[in-house]
Amino acid sequence: MNFTIYGNPIEHSKSPQMHNAGFKKINFDGNYTKTHLEDGNELKQNFLANEIAGANITVPHKEDAFKLADEVRGLAKEIGAVNTYINENGQVIAYNTDAPGFMMAIEEFGDIKSALILGAGGTAKAIAVAFKGASIDTTVINRSEGRLEFFKKLGCKTYNWDNFDCDKYDLVINSTSAGLKDDNYPAPKEILENILENSTYAIDCIYGKMTPFLTFAKEKGLKFKDGEDMLLFQGVIAFELFTGCKADKSLIEAMRQGLSG
Ligand SMILES: NC(=O)c1ccc[n+]([C@@H]2O[C@H](COP(=O)([O-])OP(=O)(O)OC[C@H]3O[C@@H](n4cnc5c(N)ncnc54)[C@H](OP(=O)(O)O)[C@@H]3O)[C@@H](O)[C@H]2O)c1
Repeated sequence: MNFTIYGNPIEHSKSPQMHNAGFKKINFDGNYTKTHLEDGNELKQNFLANEIAGANITVPHKEDAFKLADEVRGLAKEIGAVNTYINENGQVIAYNTDAPGFMMAIEEFGDIKSALILGAGGTAKAIAVAFKGASIDTTVINRSEGRLEFFKKLGCKTYNWDNFDCDKYDLVINSTSAGLKDDNYPAPKEILENILENSTYAIDCIYGKMTPFLTFAKEKGLKFKDGEDMLLFQGVIAFELFTGCKADKSLIEAMRQGLSG
């Protein structure tokens, strides 16, 4: 059975090595590849024409994927973006596994009651919807005002850098792309310092590097982690949808090895 990940760019994706390691572990007859796709409007047609059994969708096509699906299931309906397609007898069924994957990634922090999300892009939306489902009191701060409307409607407290009023938070999340290809903080240093001094745990959605955000969190004594588990667990949940198999510890470990290998 054929599986793929669609994105642009896609060269950097580690999803094939993660999923292929999982298929091997359970002797599943699957082959997962990468597909570079320029035009998100061609997603569904490409998926069906190439007889793909299941796919992941990454930047910048998650919203197009949502619009094109025959049926959207679960939290994805509220998020407005999907990262997983399943071919059910020629019908394209879509899910968002980023949201539950993020919740699995923060399990080790214990009972989170309040959270501050830095950033208001697609990832922030998935996290905020998951938090709403878990009754976590959620605040969002973003550099610009425009993208905050979604979060206001969801019931989050929202701020930009000019009107931010800091509270206490169990968890602070960097969901901006600051630190991905630069050395920027996700908010001005004074604001970030105030936030970190009033928070217990920190997670960056960026993975595989100590970002300026994580370095600062460490300096302030917070327990912290990067986005690798978030990537792993969205993959694990997608894998369960692809194969119909429940992932146990040894399968998750094989997928983690695949990711790092
Ligand atoms: N670990 C994983 O599995 C995983 C999964 C998905 C995404 N990610 C990571 O999550 C991050 C966000 O992805 P996304 O898809 O949500 O991106 P997105 O939709 O493009 O949103 C980017 C957000 O970052 C803000 N931003 C960008 N540069 C900034 C800067 N220099 N300072 C402060 N804010 C800045 C933007 O603010 P404005 O609104 O003001 O432009 C916006 O809120 C990326 O780094 C991505 O690699 C990780």
